Amino acid sequence: MEKKARGTFSGKLGYVLAVSGSAVGLGNIWRFPYLAAKYGGGIFLLVYILLAVTFGFTLILSETALGRMTGKSPIGAFKTFTKGKLVAGGWISAIIPMLIVPYYCVIGGWVIKYLVGFASGNVESMATDTFFSEFVAAPVEPVIWLMVFVLLTFMVVIFGVEKGVERISKILMPVLIVLAIIICIYSVTRPGALEGVKYYLIPDFSKFSVMTVVAAMGQMFYSLSIAMGILITYGSYMKKEVNMESSIKQVEVVDTLVAILAGLMIIPAVFAFSGGDQTTLNAGPSLMFITIPKVFESMGMGQAIGAVFFLLVLVAALTSSISLMETCVSSLQDQWGWSRKKSCLLMVGEMILLGIPCSLGFGVWDFIKPLGLSILDFFDFLTNSVMMPISAFLICLLVVKAIGLDRISQEVRLSSKFKREKAYRFMVRYLVPVGLLIILVSSVLNVFGIITI
Ligand code: PFF
Repeated sequence: MEKKARGTFSGKLGYVLAVSGSAVGLGNIWRFPYLAAKYGGGIFLLVYILLAVTFGFTLILSETALGRMTGKSPIGAFKTFTKGKLVAGGWISAIIPMLIVPYYCVIGGWVIKYLVGFASGNVESMATDTFFSEFVAAPVEPVIWLMVFVLLTFMVVIFGVEKGVERISKILMPVLIVLAIIICIYSVTRPGALEGVKYYLIPDFSKFSVMTVVAAMGQMFYSLSIAMGILITYGSYMKKEVNMESSIKQVEVVDTLVAILAGLMIIPAVFAFSGGDQTTLNAGPSLMFITIPKVFESMGMGQAIGAVFFLLVLVAALTSSISLMETCVSSLQDQWGWSRKKSCLLMVGEMILLGIPCSLGFGVWDFIKPLGLSILDFFDFLTNSVMMPISAFLICLLVVKAIGLDRISQEVRLSSKFKREKAYRFMVRYLVPVGLLIILVSSVLNVFGIITI
């Protein structure tokens, strides 16, 4: 079969924006603020940043180098260096995004619903206590929004790397940052919001616990799209002359910046609204869908601000789901030689087929509770807390044992110096594998109720 040339990003900017597009998503805007609120604000932020520049950097670099040196998506990339059991690492990396993207699209669908609701002036009803739970429990409406979200993702991915993924990221990413800054300014200037800014930015060491580290570590992996095949695939689209180390640094800065901004949009607003009431701060996943609409309702111009906010969340979620679907499509194309169109259509079917049970799990199928979790939470747990640490561990193993650190350094040095080489070598050998085992064990113990994170 004749092999078509692999698409590439046009240059550094295209790469950085596309990877940032993948990284910046619901993880930053929905997950990061509620974790930061729960785990002590400033101290969580500090731990998160330290982890991103150590663990995060090490794994992103390993995956990107692996992708670029092989020009392949996860399975092919692993197979280039190992014929043994380690190939399982490639398969796990390829399967993870196929399991994440359906439920990610369910949440994306909720975001569209809130955007439409705010835009059409439905603010009061959206701010009631029961709106969210009633909406997600409905059998039909959330499924329709799920399909709309899947369709939007599909429309970008079908166009390919440069025309689809890169072009849309170049437009949407800057829009997102500008929108985030506007809402942030609005939020921190509300009366009473300053207390929230202090809580969020000034670390209080008495709030530190091992669980702060475990939660921050899980979040960091999720937020930077690590160990999910994405960075290997996007690395394979990176040209050899692009400076890898500095591109990665920029991606980390953008991702962390948006997470910090999201916290600054949400936490001070919660303080202004509730005076930093502990129950509100601990609202968890519902912070964005229940607490925040209430905050908007109580503000002047809440309808407009709310619509802008959910537009921003939608943009972030879309660029991430695009990366998830792109990785799956790329794996299908590489593995079975299918056309882009066929692979895309198959993925659309899969996303809807698995997405529907995730959505129904909050309503008519709420009696199905694997491990005591809703279907959506079960997929989230399975991918992020179990498969992701295993996949990242296998990547470290591949890099250290099969590829060799010299070969990685050589790949990085193709386009620049490798400034953090020594630290990288130490981390990929020792620190990161041990850290991964800690997250794996603690999150499994947590779901079985043996410890509480
Ligand atoms: N990093 C994205 C976020 O923070 O929302 C989510 C995500 C995208 C997770 C891609 C995993 C992934 F493979």
